[in-house]
Amino acid sequence: MLNMNILAVETSCDETALAIVRADGGLQNPHFEIVGELVSSQIDVHKEFGGVVPTLAKREHLKNLPVLYKKLFKTSPVGIEEIDMIAVTVGPGLEPALWTGINEAQRIGKEHDIPIVGVNHMHGHMYSFLLSGNIKTADVFPMVALLVSGGHTIIISMDSLQNYRVLGETRDDAVGESFDKVARLLGIPYPGGPAIEKLADKGDSHAIAFPSTMLHEKGYDTSFSGLKTAVLYYMREQDANTQINANQQMTANKKEKMWKMGEYKLSDKERANIAASFQYAAFNALTRKTARAAKNIGARAVTIGGGVSANKKLHKILLKRLDEDGCSDVKIITPPINYCMDNAAMIGVAGYITSLRGLSYPLEADGVLGV
Ligand code: KG4
Ligand code: ZN
Repeated sequence: MLNMNILAVETSCDETALAIVRADGGLQNPHFEIVGELVSSQIDVHKEFGGVVPTLAKREHLKNLPVLYKKLFKTSPVGIEEIDMIAVTVGPGLEPALWTGINEAQRIGKEHDIPIVGVNHMHGHMYSFLLSGNIKTADVFPMVALLVSGGHTIIISMDSLQNYRVLGETRDDAVGESFDKVARLLGIPYPGGPAIEKLADKGDSHAIAFPSTMLHEKGYDTSFSGLKTAVLYYMREQDANTQINANQQMTANKKEKMWKMGEYKLSDKERANIAASFQYAAFNALTRKTARAAKNIGARAVTIGGGVSANKKLHKILLKRLDEDGCSDVKIITPPINYCMDNAAMIGVAGYITSLRGLSYPLEADGVLGV
């Protein structure tokens, strides 16, 4: 069936999200219309813990899902009896959180006799550019997909919606995770990405030469944990200089204690320079490798998906790198900004493509499901 009304459910992390997506056009000319959508963010719940707590995420999803479901169909022009398929995220993500969505999808599916398709969350980010509208698949392939989120950093070569292969991944932290960790060092609450971007705008990206790990290595793998450690050591050093000047008597023991609490006495200018220099180093190797991939596969477009794709500087640096590599005619296509972060509409899109590809995932949470 090419025309479908899809109910999409996303609970892989800290957003409880439902959407109704009308899909048609098949794999050659897919088109999507978002009929209704609701998101409930749990950021305030997890903020005080500095990251997402799986058991709390589960509790919040269980609380939110029935409320959102009721509210969604109250205002939607499409009734539950007109839904042809339920698309639900089965992984990767936090398993207790994923299970809440899967169980809810199964409950609704059983009650209303609707088939369910399990969806890979990363396919959601990979295909979310299709929510931009006016995309003709014939104009964009071959394409490079750069997926950058809190859990993943993947460079993919795509020949079509169904034929793709992973070129490289991070060997340790995901790029979004490094933004969150550096934010924590700077005393910025979770999620740190948007706040670091804002702070970086006030700083000098070349003030501090942080390492862009794996920049000169062949292949498309990346690494971000060394960068985070370099930021930590830099901050300790700067902080020690300030403190030692202010108080010659401070003991090493006291200093260690203070650092553990994240109390770095840095000026606003220093903080902005750290944010800007970190952001530049984080995007340097990533954009060079993405541009190289685009050049090597003769890409017509690069799509950026996942939470970090909301970062404007990432687009700017990538454009520059594409230009330097003689790929100035390669388009960068991204989803509208509210579909960069986790959302259910992208799960509806990926569900449609998954079912047309004849791909099927077990309806079981898989925290480490691969692309
Ligand atoms: O895709 P997403 O919403 O959730 C996951 O699947 O992980 O991505 C969230 C990640 C967080 O690490 C967050 O700090 C990061 O995306 N992020 C950003 C920006 N907005 C969100 N990182 C850098 N710059 C941003 N503007
Ligand atoms: Zn995500």
